[in-house]
Amino acid sequence: MTNTTHKPQAKIRKVNFKFEKPFPKHWFNNNPIATHFMNAQHLVFPDGEKFFIRSVKAFAEVYKNDPELKKRVDNFIGQEGTHFAEHQKFWDIMIDQDLKPMGFVDFYRNSAWNGLESWFRNKLVKNRLGDKLALSITVALEHYTAMLAESGILNKEMTEKMPKEMQDLFMWHAAEEIEHKSIPFDVLKKVDDNYPLRISGMLLASIGLWYYLTKGTIYLTQQDEDVNRKDIPKYAFDFLNNFRKNFGGTLSKQYYQYFKRDFHPDQIDNYHLAVELLKNKNYA
Ligand SMILES: [Fe+2]
Ligand SMILES: [Fe+2]
Repeated sequence: MTNTTHKPQAKIRKVNFKFEKPFPKHWFNNNPIATHFMNAQHLVFPDGEKFFIRSVKAFAEVYKNDPELKKRVDNFIGQEGTHFAEHQKFWDIMIDQDLKPMGFVDFYRNSAWNGLESWFRNKLVKNRLGDKLALSITVALEHYTAMLAESGILNKEMTEKMPKEMQDLFMWHAAEEIEHKSIPFDVLKKVDDNYPLRISGMLLASIGLWYYLTKGTIYLTQQDEDVNRKDIPKYAFDFLNNFRKNFGGTLSKQYYQYFKRDFHPDQIDNYHLAVELLKNKNYA
């Protein structure tokens, strides 16, 4: 069943989040592991979102003659462009906190994008399989961001543990992720509606996303001289327990929905969460 009752049009909003220095080092619930998991997202999202944009743009010839889809894709690209710029601002704050984010970013860029992505785009050229795989990974990661967004919006007591500006950044991003969740999916459907292709993208996306978020969390924790090493197991347990409590239900249910042959993101009725949040926060 497809539910499009509340489907909003994705649109580009002007935002400008400002983070004051010094920013609290363990800004999420006073838990360094939870904080560095969120910090890892500040590091992983920007280059990931640039990948989403080039993956969709690679098939511009497929959507350029469909004015409705072209308009949606333009708004998707505009939204992702704004997201990466806003998250990237926090890199400077991390440097101010004596963390070295660029060490991780360089590793991530070289392995994921200059390494793996360019390998499969250049090697899998028959029927543009490499480009299609990149788009399929993008679609899968958009499913992930929409799942994380839904849980983040619904579990208000979790985001209330963040400083206001950070809470606003993540909630604005979450709302726009839900708003545009079906756009790359509709492009992939038009490019190649092949089930194994879509599922391969999800398998690769799952490995990549959790690998880099875990690696980034560990990297930043190792660098953080304000963490008492003997407290790490306690912080890690608290973080994992809260993560399971707040995200586990949505992630496990909606992850498997993606594997249905007739899956479409509109089948998950959460557009109203984005609409209400953007209205309550007075985003035009
Ligand atoms: Fe985004
Ligand atoms: Fe997105």
